[in-house]
Amino acid sequence: MVTRSSHEPVLLDDATRLLALRPGARVVDGTVGLGGHAEAILRATAPDGLLIGLDVDPAALERAGERLASFGERVTLVPSSFRRLDRVLDELGIERVDGVLLDLGVSSLQLDAAERGFRFAADTARETPLDMRMDPGLERDAAERLATASEAELADWLRRYGELPGARRLAAAIVAAREERPLRTAADLVALVEETGVGRGRRHHPATRVFQALRIAVNDELAALEEGLEAAVSRLAPGGRLVVLAYHSLEDRRVKQCFRDRERGCVCPPGLPECRCGQVPTLRRVTKRPIVPSPEEVARNPRARSARLRAAERLAS
Ligand SMILES: C[S@@+](CC[C@H](N)C(=O)[O-])C[C@H]1O[C@@H](n2cnc3c(N)ncnc32)[C@H](O)[C@@H]1O
Repeated sequence: MVTRSSHEPVLLDDATRLLALRPGARVVDGTVGLGGHAEAILRATAPDGLLIGLDVDPAALERAGERLASFGERVTLVPSSFRRLDRVLDELGIERVDGVLLDLGVSSLQLDAAERGFRFAADTARETPLDMRMDPGLERDAAERLATASEAELADWLRRYGELPGARRLAAAIVAAREERPLRTAADLVALVEETGVGRGRRHHPATRVFQALRIAVNDELAALEEGLEAAVSRLAPGGRLVVLAYHSLEDRRVKQCFRDRERGCVCPPGLPECRCGQVPTLRRVTKRPIVPSPEEVARNPRARSARLRAAERLAS
């Protein structure tokens, strides 16, 4: 179950240290949220460093705007997904940046607003709509997805994004249930998951994985991450740093794979006498293993519990 969360930025010291910040640096915070990491970045790049902060959630941008107002023209906030980082930088006339930070997932602002639908805690589940859009401008929320997706699609999400044993059984149960009554609230979905017995006996409540799967599908999170990583690598200046905080293994695996592939460069099948793909290394991994929060940080801020931080440096190639 999700508990009330803290506004403390996760792994703040490690994230800023690994961005290797210096005065005057230009940094993209692709997930500016409440502006906690952004504020530390602006302090470390004073007096003239620039911060470009993106978020898909206008409420987050408003809060970040208030928090960062005293930095004046050093801050540019843009309502955009980080998957469109290329376009944002083009429009700002910025060719290369010295750092990119992605602190993935939902903010405490989103988690704490029951009406956004990211929580399924028993005390609020009845009034919690199945929404889960980080960008409220997205056309389809979670309830709409549950009402319209095919059984195969639902099973695919539950299996791939929730890594849920029994995904097909639950998908069939959703399709059967929605013919009789629409699934509108978190309580409706939790009750259905409990009825099917899917995921019973696991350490976390079985609905945790179901909510994770739905959230990833609603926000197209994994495709956005792949595109965001690609764009970040292509816009970093040589020596620039990419720092990513992931909160579940599906995200972390993609970050790890992206860093490894770009460190290796060549993607030719093994055994070829010489390289044919012509791809050269573009990144050097700065963290070979992910950095995780200390027990003290987790005690202060339970949201940090599953965080994994990885960093890489852009090579000159
Ligand atoms: C964990 S919070 C970031 C918290 C922030 N680092 C801070 O210190 O306050 C993640 C934020 O990323 C945003 N977000 C998620 N996916 C995004 C995407 N593809 N593009 C831009 N923002 C995204 C969410 O709306 C949320 O506000």
